[in-house]
Amino acid sequence: MVDTGLLRKDEFKKSYYLFKNKYKLNIKLINSKKLFYNKLKNVIDPEKKRKIIGNLFIKIFEKEAKKFKKVKYLAQGTLYPDIIESRSSTGSQSAKIKSHHNVGGLPKKMKLKLIEPLNEFFKDEVRKLGKSLGLDSSILYKHPFPGPGLAIRIIGKINEKKIKILQDADNIFMNSLIEHNIYDKIWQAYAALLPVKTVGVMGDTRTFEYTCLLRAVTSEDGMTAAKYNFTNEFLGIISNKIINGVSGINRVVYDITSKPPSTIELE
Ligand code: XMP
Repeated sequence: MVDTGLLRKDEFKKSYYLFKNKYKLNIKLINSKKLFYNKLKNVIDPEKKRKIIGNLFIKIFEKEAKKFKKVKYLAQGTLYPDIIESRSSTGSQSAKIKSHHNVGGLPKKMKLKLIEPLNEFFKDEVRKLGKSLGLDSSILYKHPFPGPGLAIRIIGKINEKKIKILQDADNIFMNSLIEHNIYDKIWQAYAALLPVKTVGVMGDTRTFEYTCLLRAVTSEDGMTAAKYNFTNEFLGIISNKIINGVSGINRVVYDITSKPPSTIELE
């Protein structure tokens, strides 16, 4: 497991223990946070971020795999929609929607042979397959999460401070969805950080902090999506919790756009 430092709060640790304790997998942990943060420093363009992350990930992976004698394959959970969106309909580079890191990020020449057993399936079909294999429901029904992770949920330049702010806000949002029994009604939900600072008041002092955007959508396969209709009460609760719980954020907005014309991720 390569820690890119771009996962949700505690996600790396939690996944590691699940794989190790429940599935008895022999996992090697590689902490590459600093490498990723360094390479991403000052990068603004989303496609550049995706390419950097995909390339660095596979470079680290190949280097580590070499230390094991018999490793020949790289298996990826690429789904059919990843392929469709990473491919342009006209053949031009600019016409494609985005490079999903596991499709567009891989180098042309790779020592490991790529296998992608799920690349002709949609997510609902993959969940059915997983269910018939008896996989843990915490894995099966987990919301999708993009390979480039939080780097594409922080608009513009990223740094450790912004990542920490976003992880904390996102964690509050996710826990509230679970507490209120809403998590499973939603295809995908997350918090994002907008690089816009606005003025606020906390107690009797002026604040000048970032804006947190919440996104929650319903969808069948991620190809189209509609906003999830939270109650006003829930939106109020979550906004208060985030602003009171996370220093660095003083405004919360809810994204009401559907896909299309928007996408699910921001970048
Ligand atoms: P968009 O934002 O394109 O997202 O509407 C559609 C679905 O794909 C996920 N996504 C990714 N998954 N690598 C991935 O593995 C990526 O680079 C990537 N980009 C988007 C997104 O989270 C949503 O579920």
